[in-house]
Amino acid sequence: MNEANPTQPLVEARGLTKAYRMGNRRVEVLRGVDLLIARGEFLALRGASGAGKSTLLHLLGGLDVPDAGRIVFQGEQLTGRGLSALARFRNQRVGFIFQAYHLMPDLTALENVALPARVARVGAGEARQRAAMLLERVGLGGRLGHRPNQLSGGEQQRVAIARCLVNRPDLILADEPTGNLDSHTGDGVLELLLELRAERGTTLVIATHDPRVSGRAEREVQLVDGLVAAADGVQPT
Ligand SMILES: Nc1ncnc2c1ncn2[C@@H]1O[C@H](COP(=O)(O)OP(=O)(O)OP(=O)(O)O)[C@@H](O)[C@H]1O
Ligand SMILES: [Mg+2]
Repeated sequence: MNEANPTQPLVEARGLTKAYRMGNRRVEVLRGVDLLIARGEFLALRGASGAGKSTLLHLLGGLDVPDAGRIVFQGEQLTGRGLSALARFRNQRVGFIFQAYHLMPDLTALENVALPARVARVGAGEARQRAAMLLERVGLGGRLGHRPNQLSGGEQQRVAIARCLVNRPDLILADEPTGNLDSHTGDGVLELLLELRAERGTTLVIATHDPRVSGRAEREVQLVDGLVAAADGVQPT
């Protein structure tokens, strides 16, 4: 799962389906999603609440598995791997950013950011060094020892961004990263993601209801009735 042909899409998803069972009712959330994501692309994922945006991000990042269909990441099949292989894939290739930050409450900002690097067996010293550099980069050089409950919402989201970058992911999947932030702070978070993308060429997929976020994307993909709406096409631009 490594360096690949630059003309190959970063992610190729074909025919993804996902249904949830609630009691004896089946809710079909994704009904055959086809999506190609180009390397370095900034794609906004839109759709009504309940349309399946979070579900799709979870499948693309290996947090969950589809019922049917396949996902190829940099030319290698993701579907069908075991749980530990998926965990390794997430840890090393993908950065997740969630609306609710999901920081570890008992760890400091520095420890939160360093954690995925430690999981990836980076040595303690180097992990802390990377974490400190990234926190500096997101404007939190003065908050290394703060725990999440000692940070504002915008600061917690910036810690989460630093954390998602610590293993230098190829793909950042962000699920409404500005949803809990006031518009000014949300703009700052978006600018930061865009700068990091420009610096590193990281591919960025953001699920969002916020037109200020999707307005900046190179491409919008809309989920409607469990499918990618026709006009969005399957080809990366
Ligand atoms: N674990 C689950 N069990 C049962 N149903 C689920 C589960 N997760 C999601 N769903 C259902 O799947 C549908 C899609 O959920 P999803 O979270 O992907 O939507 P979304 O597009 O991200 O919505 P929002 O914009 O509100 O975040 C919803 O109807 C939801 O109720
Ligand atoms: Mg969602």
